[in-house]
Amino acid sequence: MKIALFPGDGIGPEIMEQARRVLDALNLPGLVVWEGDVGGAAYRRHGHPLPEEALQMARAADGVLFGAVGDPDCDNLERHLRPEQAILGLRSHLGLFANLRPATTFAGLEGMSALKPEIARSIDVLIVRELNGDVYFGEKARRQLDDGRRQGYDFMSYAEDEVRRIAHVAFRAAQGRGGKLCSVDKANVLETSQLWRDVVVETAADYPDVELSHMYVDNAAMQLVKDPGQFDVIVTGNLFGDILSDQASMCVGSIGLLASAALGERQTEFGTFGLYEPIHGSAPDIAGEGKANPMAMILSLAMLLRHSLGREADALRVESAVAKALEDGVLGGDLGGTAGTSAIGEAVLERL
Ligand code: NAD
Ligand code: IPM
Ligand code: MN
Repeated sequence: MKIALFPGDGIGPEIMEQARRVLDALNLPGLVVWEGDVGGAAYRRHGHPLPEEALQMARAADGVLFGAVGDPDCDNLERHLRPEQAILGLRSHLGLFANLRPATTFAGLEGMSALKPEIARSIDVLIVRELNGDVYFGEKARRQLDDGRRQGYDFMSYAEDEVRRIAHVAFRAAQGRGGKLCSVDKANVLETSQLWRDVVVETAADYPDVELSHMYVDNAAMQLVKDPGQFDVIVTGNLFGDILSDQASMCVGSIGLLASAALGERQTEFGTFGLYEPIHGSAPDIAGEGKANPMAMILSLAMLLRHSLGREADALRVESAVAKALEDGVLGGDLGGTAGTSAIGEAVLERL
């Protein structure tokens, strides 16, 4: 089993260190671990946020564990050199089109939610976010209009095969969970969304056992805080999925808790090749202070164990250790507590 670790920028290396401790404690037989540079860190060392070596390393691995990228000092670089291109490049070069972002209330810990506990109690939603298309990857540029005004534009589009393959992933996920799928779009305004909706409806014919519904994204944002328990699986495009998943994290408790998996079609000897990362970013406001919550990172490792290494029992052990630490009141600053990054890592290790 080969995995690549990409710590990245900001709090990335701090939280990756804690995931690494957990990984080492599992002592997996025959595991080979590589580490590579991505993001602003890679730009400084190699002149590019996603150096060819990092891409090759990812390709050769069974799974990739990714910290976070993003560095305010790089925000004025040309777009193709910005740290974020590392994660966008890995997702697209590796064909990782299906982003699973689960948000589930930790039993008995509804009090962590930004919502009223009785509303938070029922949250168990899987956001299936398309990751290779949408306005993220369309033509984008700036130009000057005839009257001299500057204009920026980004081309939003989905081709039907791109929608169909993510819809299949979402329908299958719903079959394995509560049997309900809600497709989120903006079909009342966007033609991209109307095509999305048409293709999701066509795909539904293969899944008569799944109850399909549709919701506009503005309403979905509202429903997610009004009654999050109504959702089982949500499938949505790249941009809406990005936004709704950050929102879902506060419904559970904190962005420092939500893990994600980016999967494609490639199978490895042990499972599905994938890239795993917290849904949050490099948190420059707290970087270097030992304050970041490493739980989302550690839970991303659990997802890697499950999907890419076929180690379900180990994944469950890691997830239980995190849940137990939370139950025991080991809370980072993001959850109103005082535990620092390494203390949280330590607490998870003890419970493992
Ligand atoms: P962010 O997720 O980094 O931070 C948002 C807020 O949440 C900040 O106040 C931060 O301190 C807090 N936070 C995030 N993770 C935390 C953790 N584990 N523990 C405690 N608090 C945490 O989002 P942002 O501030 O909008 O973006 C910062 C940089 O990260 C930008 O450069 C952005 O492009 C990048 N980014 C990268 C990824 C990624 O690598 N996948 C994801 C999102 C944002
Ligand atoms: C995420 C991030 C990324 C995204 C950025 C850093 C490109 O916000 O993984 O949620 O928008 O997909
Ligand atoms: Mn995001």
